[in-house]
Amino acid sequence: MSFNKKFLWGGATAANQFEGAYDVDDKGLSTDDMLSSGTSKKHRQITKTTNPKLYYPNRIASDFYYHYKDDIKLMAEMGFKAYRMSIAWTRIFPTGEEKEPNPKGLAFYDAIFAELKKYDIEPIVTLSHYEMPLSLVNKYNGWADRRVIKLFANYVKTVFKHFKGKVKYWLTFNEINCGTLPLGNYTSLGIRNPGSTDYLNQIDIPQIRYQALHHQLVASALAVKIGHEIDSTNKIGNMIAMMPVYPLTCDPLDQLKAQREWRLKQWYCADVQCRGKYGSYCFPFWKKHRIKLNITKEDRRILEEGTVDFFSLSYYQTNCVTTHTDASESSGNLLGGAKNPYLKSSEWGWQIDPEGLRFTLNEIYDRYNLPIIIVENGLGAEDKLTADKTIHDLYRIDYLRAHIQAMKEAVDEDNVDLFGYTMWGCIDLVSASTGEMAKRYGFVYVDSDNYGRGTFNRYKKDSFYWYKKVIKSNGEDLS
Ligand code: BG6
Repeated sequence: MSFNKKFLWGGATAANQFEGAYDVDDKGLSTDDMLSSGTSKKHRQITKTTNPKLYYPNRIASDFYYHYKDDIKLMAEMGFKAYRMSIAWTRIFPTGEEKEPNPKGLAFYDAIFAELKKYDIEPIVTLSHYEMPLSLVNKYNGWADRRVIKLFANYVKTVFKHFKGKVKYWLTFNEINCGTLPLGNYTSLGIRNPGSTDYLNQIDIPQIRYQALHHQLVASALAVKIGHEIDSTNKIGNMIAMMPVYPLTCDPLDQLKAQREWRLKQWYCADVQCRGKYGSYCFPFWKKHRIKLNITKEDRRILEEGTVDFFSLSYYQTNCVTTHTDASESSGNLLGGAKNPYLKSSEWGWQIDPEGLRFTLNEIYDRYNLPIIIVENGLGAEDKLTADKTIHDLYRIDYLRAHIQAMKEAVDEDNVDLFGYTMWGCIDLVSASTGEMAKRYGFVYVDSDNYGRGTFNRYKKDSFYWYKKVIKSNGEDLS
């Protein structure tokens, strides 16, 4: 058998894209509650206050808040061993600055963990998945302000203490390296620079963004330290969006460009989180871009002491880079890059590359030698609900089969220490990049459209039965 008997098969979601109930039980407004709906052509808008002409899809999302019992039952029926989810900071501290946590927020997650325990499903909890209290954006410009580190530390202390014994696996920040991209300003770092309204074309001030990212890296290390102090059996990982790039040609200049991208897009954060300090390549990068980071002695100490126990990643696509200007662009939503002639793309232009996953796992394992878990992977596609309420999503099965096969090869042939796989959006949810419901990932269909219209009933797709078989055979039967 390729996979260990305890391999964590499962699925993943995030509070802001899945829970809905955005103002229920004293929850505060979060950054995502101010993101309008969009499509791949019409970009999402970031608004300061509610614009009655716009629709805000994350506010209702998949209504998990009221469906959690049935949803977890469906996960159990598929045989899930693990469920990756996130806690909404705003359910626990609605503005981020309260003295006492919100008991109703804690109670909601208590109920979730109790339900998971009933079915022996291991929770894997992200402390911060692309959201923060809106109040901290208004007051501090998000992570741009060092004071937010303390507020976050208070939040994580509260949840580590309260959920002690109920959760063993934790992730600090979702796709923390999104902060190395201009897109990460609002989504990842809570920075809303004056005039920033277009989600995919935000006003970017690299000096502010990289300082904010530094604060977040310190907060991540602090969370690891706090989590270990509160319960030494806690396993705490990072979460990196792996955005692998290949050189488009064998021109050495393309090779150098690809290497630079690997460093600045994924290793920049991962090195700090796994090795406890910035890579040497960061210094010339900061100098070239006139970025002057305020890194205190205390920060350095925290970074060194707060390295992670394991490496977690999301993986969807790869891209190419080139110094040759005549190459055509791929239209990967967040990433772009040159088109790879050997790969096909999803409906949303993301280049599908299962072998790239094996390559990526090897790169990570060679570099850090830490246990690895894939906490996001999957295919966003338009699903058609048939008259008899099923969905024949062979395309999704094909995508997942090829990626799990690549994982197997990484384990069998390359000896990578991989301990789990949680497929992204196991039950349909709102897309992060476009705010659509139509970009579906799930094994379970949620009857709601891009504007929250529908019954919110759940329907099993063909992939539901397929994944059940995969889990039952511990990844041996992919047919
Ligand atoms: C990852 C995020 O970037 O990709 C998720 O962690 C996101 O929040 C997922 O939903 C898929 O991207 P999208 O834009 O298709 O939802």
